Amino acid sequence: MQRVESEIARLIEEIDYDAVSRLFATLSGGKRLRAKLILKIAPNSPEAPLLAAIVELIHGASLLHDDVIDDAKTRRGAVSVNASEGSKIAVMLGDILYSKAFSELVSFDKEIAKIVASSVTALSKGEMQDVKMADTFNDDEEKYLRMLYLKTATLIEAAAMAAAILAGKDVEKHGVYGKNLGLSFQIIDDILDITSDEKTLGKPAMNDFVEGKCTLPYIYLYHALESEEKKKLLSLHAKQIDKEQTQWIQEKMQEHGCVLQSFELAKTLSNEAMHAVAEDKELVAILENMIQRSY
Ligand code: IPE
Ligand code: IPE
Ligand code: MG
Ligand code: MG
Ligand code: MG
Repeated sequence: MQRVESEIARLIEEIDYDAVSRLFATLSGGKRLRAKLILKIAPNSPEAPLLAAIVELIHGASLLHDDVIDDAKTRRGAVSVNASEGSKIAVMLGDILYSKAFSELVSFDKEIAKIVASSVTALSKGEMQDVKMADTFNDDEEKYLRMLYLKTATLIEAAAMAAAILAGKDVEKHGVYGKNLGLSFQIIDDILDITSDEKTLGKPAMNDFVEGKCTLPYIYLYHALESEEKKKLLSLHAKQIDKEQTQWIQEKMQEHGCVLQSFELAKTLSNEAMHAVAEDKELVAILENMIQRSY
């Protein structure tokens, strides 16, 4: 991982703008899941650290834009860039990171460059769908999962496929692994928004529903509630809610096992990912850590 960190530092230096270096430093402290994945799949490829650095810049850019979209005040345990510098700076810093990543990507094999670059289009389509779907209460699980695939799983899928190309490994199998890992990863992220706290997460908790995001536990809750309670849940959607209302949601989720039900789906998807690469113990270990994670 040290080689990835050095590559990231080199790319940021090349941007040659103090403000960028300073603000990028506030973004340290990510889990580097996507980079680790690339290094585990292509450990002997001399190009893997640079590819991992590129994917982490892309991921960082997506988070900068995501925090503007979600009006999030914290990220990776620090004040978010949109909160400290304003949305304009956060958007432009995101653009700088995206474009720097793309400039570096052109030195790779065409197939790799295409897979990674087009996943960013998918990610952005997913984020846009996430925004649009937050306008009203979405109770459609399939629609929700299609959006998740775009906004989160495609970049992870692309990272796994690109690394498989570098390593001369089975691209399709690694794609299946990355896709299901990504879906499962976002479901766990959605669960943690409800079950964890800001200190542990390093980013806001109980913020998804306030932002109108009806994640799986909310979808399951809606379908489990009686009609009067359904009305109450709908009335709380996309609003700043108080402690008592938050508690009501959490108690009702507990009563109907909505978090557990979501966790079961995350486990099923994670098992599908495992089957695709069952012989690779390190990739299986990534899945296990991902599903058990607390942040
Ligand atoms: C956060 O990604 C955004 C999601 C796709 C859920 P990570 O949880 O990988 O964020 P960092 O990189 O560890 O901060
Ligand atoms: C994932 O969604 C964001 C991206 C894919 C960029 P979230 O909005 O849930 O991510 P967090 O929880 O803010 O990290
Ligand atoms: Mg967010
Ligand atoms: Mg978001
Ligand atoms: Mg989230």
